[in-house]
Amino acid sequence: MHDFTYRGNLLYCEKVKVRDLAERYGTPLYIYSYHTLTGHFLKLRRAFSDIRPLICYSVKANSNLAILKALVEQGAGLDIVSGGELYRALKAGCPPERIVYASVGKTSSEIEEAIRRKILFFNVESLPELEHINRIAGKLKTRTKVAIRINPDVEARTHAFITTGKITNKFGIDLKTAHGILMLRGKFAHVDIAGLHIHIGSQITEGTPFAAAIRRVIVFIGVLRREGIALEYLNIGGGLGIVYSKETPQTADEFAGTVLPVLKKSGLKIIMEPGRFIVGSAGILAVKVLYVKKTPLKKFIITDGGMNDLIRPALYGAHHEILPLYVTHEHENMGTRKFDIVGPICESGDFFAKERPMPPVREGDFLAVMTAGAYGFSMSSNYNSRPRAAEVMVKGGRAYLIRSRETYPDLTAQEVIPEYV
Ligand code: LLP
Repeated sequence: MHDFTYRGNLLYCEKVKVRDLAERYGTPLYIYSYHTLTGHFLKLRRAFSDIRPLICYSVKANSNLAILKALVEQGAGLDIVSGGELYRALKAGCPPERIVYASVGKTSSEIEEAIRRKILFFNVESLPELEHINRIAGKLKTRTKVAIRINPDVEARTHAFITTGKITNKFGIDLKTAHGILMLRGKFAHVDIAGLHIHIGSQITEGTPFAAAIRRVIVFIGVLRREGIALEYLNIGGGLGIVYSKETPQTADEFAGTVLPVLKKSGLKIIMEPGRFIVGSAGILAVKVLYVKKTPLKKFIITDGGMNDLIRPALYGAHHEILPLYVTHEHENMGTRKFDIVGPICESGDFFAKERPMPPVREGDFLAVMTAGAYGFSMSSNYNSRPRAAEVMVKGGRAYLIRSRETYPDLTAQEVIPEYV
């Protein structure tokens, strides 16, 4: 559910006409609804209110400071995966004790900075990483908390690129190895193994894989308890699926219904790391139609937005609804024809949709690529030397620019032509 709805002929974001924003700020333009964003966070918090989990929004989904700030103000923590995300999290005012840090490849300087800033804990993904964190904490004459990321070897039934909980994936540590590490925990004088972490993948629409993974770690925690190893935290990761087209993902309440009883029984402090569930449907990408091109076999709508702005269709074959910002009488009567909706980039993979039924579209019309709030701007690039899009946050009847459009000088700002001798 979201706050992008038609009123009369026009698509609105909350109380603002999306077309006005496209005209005022130019396109391609990311537009977010404050109400949808915070609403999803609050929905999840309410569903789990019995156990008061720390909900650490996954920064990678959308790392704009205004997005982070809006969530942190509501009480969210943040899930980070790099020094850059730590910088953003702190800049957005997130208390360090609400930050958890995952990633299979944390560098020495990233680890050191996170320890100095006193984050809640690291999600550790390998024995060498654990040894490394122990060494760095020792050098800083301190102790730091970690959770071991378990690879529970479950099938998440999602796109292969975003499955992370199979034993063939690079993520996490298998149960047997994790057990071995926990038996040796006394060896790590500067690390307190305080919990376990799982994250089995993204855009998971059913409860079963989550329940299976959680059950597996809870059984493991029981074994550890009997062996005298007490843990404080269980981080159940993110991955909750959302509606892009016809999916019927579990709601926050249904998810809670499936996993709450077993989480409650564990007696552990629960952390979760949703990204897409919170921000996915809170954002759209507005683009302008540059040309309508007909070839002997196909029809193309060529827009000013491309795969550098939103790479999900190109990378995962992901489906995003594409809607006109202005619906004319003609649209209602003329039925639909099929188009490929593509960008200006020099790659055949540069498309938003293929063979998509669309109402009649003309040059200069605007379109909304829906459900683009998660992994949209955050995965955008400057490919083809295209300045990155601007971002706008709508709250009620007002719009706020939260990232200005990049300029041509921005494109070359870091570049140096050497003075060869
Ligand atoms: N926690 C960890 C350890 C993760 O790796 C991720 C996502 C999350 C939490 C948040 O997952 P979410 O709740 O957003 O599903 N670019 C892909 C998605 C990649 C997800 C990477 N990890 C896409 O556009 O579908």
